Amino acid sequence: MPPERSDALVFYGATGDLAYKKIFPALSAMIRRGTLNVPVIGVAKAGWNLDQLKARAKDSIQKHGRFEEENFAKLSALLRYVDGDYREQATFLTLKKELGNAKFPAHYLAIPPVLFATLVEQLQKTQCDCQGRVIVEKPFGTDLESARRLNAVLLGAFDEKSIFRIDHYLGKRPVHNMLFSRFANSLFEPFWNRTYIENIQITMAENFGVQGRGAFYDQTGAIRDVMQNHLFQVLTNLAMEPPVRTDSESIRDEKIKVLRAIPTLKPEDVLRGQFNGYRSEQGVAQGSTVETFAIMRLEVDSWRWRGVPFFLRAGKQLPVTCTEVLIRLKQPPTMFCNYNLACNTVRIRISPDMTVAIGANVPSADEKSSVKSEMVATRQPLPEDMDAYERVLGDAMAGDPTLFAREDSVEEAWRIVDPVIKAGTPVGTYEPGTWGATSVPTRLTPQGGWDDPVVK
Ligand code: BG6
Repeated sequence: MPPERSDALVFYGATGDLAYKKIFPALSAMIRRGTLNVPVIGVAKAGWNLDQLKARAKDSIQKHGRFEEENFAKLSALLRYVDGDYREQATFLTLKKELGNAKFPAHYLAIPPVLFATLVEQLQKTQCDCQGRVIVEKPFGTDLESARRLNAVLLGAFDEKSIFRIDHYLGKRPVHNMLFSRFANSLFEPFWNRTYIENIQITMAENFGVQGRGAFYDQTGAIRDVMQNHLFQVLTNLAMEPPVRTDSESIRDEKIKVLRAIPTLKPEDVLRGQFNGYRSEQGVAQGSTVETFAIMRLEVDSWRWRGVPFFLRAGKQLPVTCTEVLIRLKQPPTMFCNYNLACNTVRIRISPDMTVAIGANVPSADEKSSVKSEMVATRQPLPEDMDAYERVLGDAMAGDPTLFAREDSVEEAWRIVDPVIKAGTPVGTYEPGTWGATSVPTRLTPQGGWDDPVVK
């Protein structure tokens, strides 16, 4: 039997930053596409009323989405608001009234994880959980132990198939397209292995700082913020075996196998950096040693990948904003050694544009040397494209767990990084606008060097 569609959406943290930047624009896009027609109940403790929430929604969509009067009127008609403390039962009794006859509400916890246990307990006490589902935001815990504790809290009230752990990278079309490129074509498979691939680099660069999120970021750092989750999702899509079926569990089973094959990181597998000026950001501790940049070297110890290093790199205040994968193939044995040949590459760009490019050697005009030339298939995002949040919210409400992190994979990802986030390895500094480290040890430099994304 297909899962029930959620017949109400309750989102906690309705007056917060995530709701403002991502959730209202996603709801508005769902209205435009005709996929949202159930009550949407915002909950927060702000002393607000419904009109204030509507005003906030309008402002949010105007700034971060696509505002259209007619669609906004439809969204407004669905909006409800409950103001109250998550520790008080009265809040949830009011919520229960707002839920009316809804039997399968989706509870979206866009709030700090420290509040999860209290909230889930209240949902149970007041029977607001019904036969519903719960949607939670990353970061899912801060280490393996806290992730296990959080899982235990959620599993106390909901079963695993009703828990949707958001990693919005999974909702990004180009991330999902990696599976399409690999498994809807036979072109890539013959060389997608240790026989032909020399190394794989994944770079997530952002040319801005912490954007007013200093207090959050200073508890988090680059490894917890984007590497243990977003970049690991990209890595698993690159490295997984073709699933035997297309249902969500067959796909997620293949992903977890990749994570299980990655040995736990050692301090020498990681380099951390912090941009100059970070410590003056609001909310950041004076002597903070939190990393705003990191490099990681991983191995996937499987039949397909053994011996191929995967290099992951992410950071704030880098020269460009771009997420890109670079797969470098081994040098061919060649009669053209004096042509100074480059390695063949496959470049997959996730943002700002969606690109797959194949780099090959071609003879130079004078036919005396070689030039690297790329065959490029690229597409700019279009306004009607589905944003990651629209996709994951829609999928969660439809009960499709494919694009969500399963309990075992979240814990496995923490297992890989846990010792290095606790080791307190040294943190170097870098100037904003540079590539994060003045000198990178050989172990953390891919053969052939780091390929820095160029954004035109
Ligand atoms: C979030 C991180 O999960 O992802 C941010 O907390 C980061 O620090 C953001 O900037 C990047 O997402 P996107 O979709 O803008 O690439």
